[in-house]
Amino acid sequence: MRGERQLRTKVAHEPPAPHMEGRKPLEARRPALVMRHVHENKLALCVALEAVADALPESVCRAECLRIASLLVPLLREAHAYEDDVIFPAYAAAAPDADLTIQRLRVEHVEDESFADEVTEILLAVGHGEPIANAEAMGFMLRGLFETLRRHIAFEREHVLPAILG
Ligand SMILES: [Fe+2]
Repeated sequence: MRGERQLRTKVAHEPPAPHMEGRKPLEARRPALVMRHVHENKLALCVALEAVADALPESVCRAECLRIASLLVPLLREAHAYEDDVIFPAYAAAAPDADLTIQRLRVEHVEDESFADEVTEILLAVGHGEPIANAEAMGFMLRGLFETLRRHIAFEREHVLPAILG
């Protein structure tokens, strides 16, 4: 017990570990950590969309189409709302010349949600057993969406996250 108290006292007075020096406290880093987590979820959906595109037309798993259809738009809406409310204000504060970039990212959010709506309709139709009339067009749409999402995420990882992490 005494040893434990001594240890606590010692830890409390020690300087931060070298890898923590200069880093913001956890609370200040939370938005960036949430954004990283959201990016991981979005990238997982991109992998799932790519797997469907690769399986077209014969090997498509219809249950997987329904699963993706149920997640895609809600995930994007939630992610974009968080970026609007928390991430972009933090980015604007950290990088005062980022106005045009934020405007472009917001436009991309609207376009991505609209694109995701269209893809969801197709995934729902296939998931409910409708025949795949044009596998090439469907594959083109799926690839268009996940490639766009990956580009958007790559930009945010390269420019937005480092800025808000400070
Ligand atoms: Fe975004």
